[in-house]
Amino acid sequence: MDIHTTIPADAKVKARVEALLSGMSLEAKIGQLVQLGGADFIPGPKPEDIIRRGGAGSVLWLNDTKRFNELQKIAVEESPSKIPLLFALDVIHGYRTIFPVPLAMAASWDPSTVERAQAIAAREARAAGLHWTFAPMLDIARDARWGRIVEGAGEDPCLGAAMAAAQVRGFQGDYLGAPDHVVACAKHFAGYGASDGGRDYDPVYLPEGQLRNVYFPPFRAAVEAGVGTFMSAYMDLNDVPASGNRWLLRDVLRGEWGFQGFVVSDAFAVGNLVIQGFARDGRDAAFRALSAGLDMDMASGTYLEHLAGLVEDGTLDMALIDDAVRAVLAIKVRMGLFEQPYTDESLLEQVVALPEHRSAARIAAQRSMVLLRNEGRLLPLAKDLKHVAVIGPVADSKPATEGSWMVFGHVPAAVTVLEGIRAKLPGATVEYAPGPEIRRDIPSWMENLDIMNSEPRKAPQTPAEAETAFQTAVETARRADVIIMVLGENASMSGEAASRASLDLPGRQEELLKAVAALCKPVVLVLLNGRPLSINWAAENIPAILEAWQPGTEGGHAVADILFGDANPGGKLPVAFPRKGSHAPLYYARNLTHSPESSPIYNPRYWDGLPTPLYPFGFGLSYTTFAITDLAVSAAQVRVGDTVSVTASVTNTGAVAGDEVVQLYIHQRAGSDSRPMRELKGFERVTLQPGETKTVTFRLGPSELGYWSTNLGHWVQDAAAFDLWVGADSLAELHAELVVE
Ligand code: BGC
Repeated sequence: MDIHTTIPADAKVKARVEALLSGMSLEAKIGQLVQLGGADFIPGPKPEDIIRRGGAGSVLWLNDTKRFNELQKIAVEESPSKIPLLFALDVIHGYRTIFPVPLAMAASWDPSTVERAQAIAAREARAAGLHWTFAPMLDIARDARWGRIVEGAGEDPCLGAAMAAAQVRGFQGDYLGAPDHVVACAKHFAGYGASDGGRDYDPVYLPEGQLRNVYFPPFRAAVEAGVGTFMSAYMDLNDVPASGNRWLLRDVLRGEWGFQGFVVSDAFAVGNLVIQGFARDGRDAAFRALSAGLDMDMASGTYLEHLAGLVEDGTLDMALIDDAVRAVLAIKVRMGLFEQPYTDESLLEQVVALPEHRSAARIAAQRSMVLLRNEGRLLPLAKDLKHVAVIGPVADSKPATEGSWMVFGHVPAAVTVLEGIRAKLPGATVEYAPGPEIRRDIPSWMENLDIMNSEPRKAPQTPAEAETAFQTAVETARRADVIIMVLGENASMSGEAASRASLDLPGRQEELLKAVAALCKPVVLVLLNGRPLSINWAAENIPAILEAWQPGTEGGHAVADILFGDANPGGKLPVAFPRKGSHAPLYYARNLTHSPESSPIYNPRYWDGLPTPLYPFGFGLSYTTFAITDLAVSAAQVRVGDTVSVTASVTNTGAVAGDEVVQLYIHQRAGSDSRPMRELKGFERVTLQPGETKTVTFRLGPSELGYWSTNLGHWVQDAAAFDLWVGADSLAELHAELVVE
């Protein structure tokens, strides 16, 4: 697939773009700003007819190499300007080899695992004929009710930025246009994760300081990593829709950050500016979106319908169209599409068969799992068990194992947890019972799209059927020596249009867990879910709990590897687990308040229960133990602008090899603004043999110690005293001080 022997130089790309542009009519230019929905369910003229007349520059919602080649041939041979199409799709956590969902990948706290996963996703997607993925999703999410929390890296900007950069490197390779890679798209710019009440698409109100200190850093990191494209978010940000938001798209993204690529809208978002009560009509929407800096209209057809008229009557400056087209053409040139517009239709099957893809998926799944509880060292289980019961509605569900946002038209083919356990214990009796089914109270509109629906459509269980399933599950458990409960959420319970008000285990799962626990046998709980769940009862009553997320194609094997000690869990929570859905938003990096936890007059913030998380950010156990000691700062006092190094030792004090994620948190005691009581500023995942010690080193300089001050209206690094903590989660106690003068 090598298309460039050398990286195209900027000047060459520019010259080529200018040459192309100079030969294009207004219609042909506008066509480059139009992304067509290629799926059958999209109404309107056939894609080939639009492409033939030069009315499209890109196609999405199509996943068929042969069809890509057919449409490309029309673009390249029959359209007026003969410019190849860019084929795009949501390749979020794998193309055919599905990796753990992004929230799980973030739980690895391991950028190299994440980079490798997205490089494999890119390789498979490119082999299928795709050029562009709508990923990574970089929305900080502090409200677990929001369904799309599954697609991001969780609550923290420092972890989020590291995951953003790793994903961009994975998707794009060393440079835009690298062989076997695709263009990445940083989405959804910006603030989408903070929708009111965690309700998907609802408005977002975020002060500039929050945006700049918390919500922007992953996007900024993506720009620094060279991301080729951005996607604007759907919702209103402080009363201005993100897709018509000049401040976001021009002032911040291009002006301040120097982004050179192009911005695509979210699906139908340009047309939606009318529905949203912002634009008067389609013409006004097209004008305002393009003027705000939105280059490509995804699927709404608004640019195709209105841009020419706006230029012809002098409302819209032609220079704005030219700039947008330049950005699109530059990506096409860099991606080598003019040299190689077509894809070999036999390539995909060769690529997906590469054994390293599945082994990378298994390792990624192992590394993303978080051990939440292990009383009496119930885990790892012995492999000579005779009779095991595997119970729960997601234990043998391929969709729930691969999780939210599967590739358009993809047929889930995961190894389920049941299959993984059976493969691990060939000599044992492994009995399975799903228990009562779980389903959404209100179905998702996405489930109505056959192409997106990965779950079999069945009539709901009657209460009597559910009761029989419940009793069968308890009886199955009763016969076993050890019970592995696999509970959580279906694939459609998180993701887009999948917010919920409660974070409890859906359906009768907790009731079943209690009934099984009452049998007084060893019970292990494995969670498959796309968001934090409020498992308060389990956290006190079930001795071993493994958060396995939605672990992907090899997920069942990875769960079995961990349950039976072939892998040692080392993942950490990228987001806190609240005790209740109504506690959202909940995050560790809060400000102190006048009545902090350390105050003698402190009362918990609610009178009806603890407001603290059930499991804090950064938390996760291991089959071994670690000691983090010898915290040292290279200087106790420095000046504004200086950089110090912070070191600590981490020792494996247990009997087996394992991984610890060492985390550095800071707090600025006073300054221009109140600052969070803790903020993550560095982390490193280290592997240690029993008895082994390693030193980890973090740097704290102006970019870690500075922030956007609301009081001053600009970036600042205050002369101030700081608390530093290094440890294994956000409650770390090992403390040092730093004074900046
Ligand atoms: C989602 C985006 C996605 C797009 C294209 C939208 O509904 O919000 O994240 O990339 O569809 O499939």
